[in-house]
Amino acid sequence: MLLTLPNILSPDDLARARALLADAPWQDGRESAGPQARTVKNNQQLPHDSAAATAIRQMVLGGLNRSALFFSAALPMRIFTPRINRYGGETNTYGNHVDNAIRLKATDGGATEYVRTDVSCTVFLNDPDDYEGGELTVSDTYGTRGVKLPAGHAVLYPGTSLHQVTPVTRGHRMACFLWVQSMVRSDEQRRLLYELDMNLLALRQRHGETAETTALTGTYHNLLRMWAET
Ligand code: NI
Repeated sequence: MLLTLPNILSPDDLARARALLADAPWQDGRESAGPQARTVKNNQQLPHDSAAATAIRQMVLGGLNRSALFFSAALPMRIFTPRINRYGGETNTYGNHVDNAIRLKATDGGATEYVRTDVSCTVFLNDPDDYEGGELTVSDTYGTRGVKLPAGHAVLYPGTSLHQVTPVTRGHRMACFLWVQSMVRSDEQRRLLYELDMNLLALRQRHGETAETTALTGTYHNLLRMWAET
């Protein structure tokens, strides 16, 4: 499932992010890529511990935390430390690849934990008008789709998908990127839960709470209980 999450970042967040990114310490993006991805990855990213990365990461995690849509679609259990990347100039593309299934994350307490990359999320930090190219292209069982969203919007897509960022031929594309380990490992089961949840919401808005919405809410939670790991 490919899903747009509008306005994860506010205009204030975006203005702050723009100021932080203006003189940020960009470095070679290949440093964090696996062996296959390394051969096609050609972008820049911020060091995890830089001031700009730390501040933008907080904004993004805060925005996702407030998003009911994100919770319903991703059912997050763990989130890998969000990364901030830039495409443009000589380092302008990330060819077709699949992300490593498991990432090792350093926790705040200094320990490490594994994060399974069930769901990928890209939060766009600048507007499509700022650059040419730079389309996120995602191929899954439903075919191939290109995504380019306004600043502050995010897209969720399955970690299982083959994806790429096409070459940026003018300007720079900046985005924050993260992986989610979901409580529900299967993309198919997660999609069914999301659809049930969204349709229940719409039914409730149209008719108020009814015996049927109450019963179907029970069905939702019983499916979640059956499928979720915590
Ligand atoms: Ni990737």
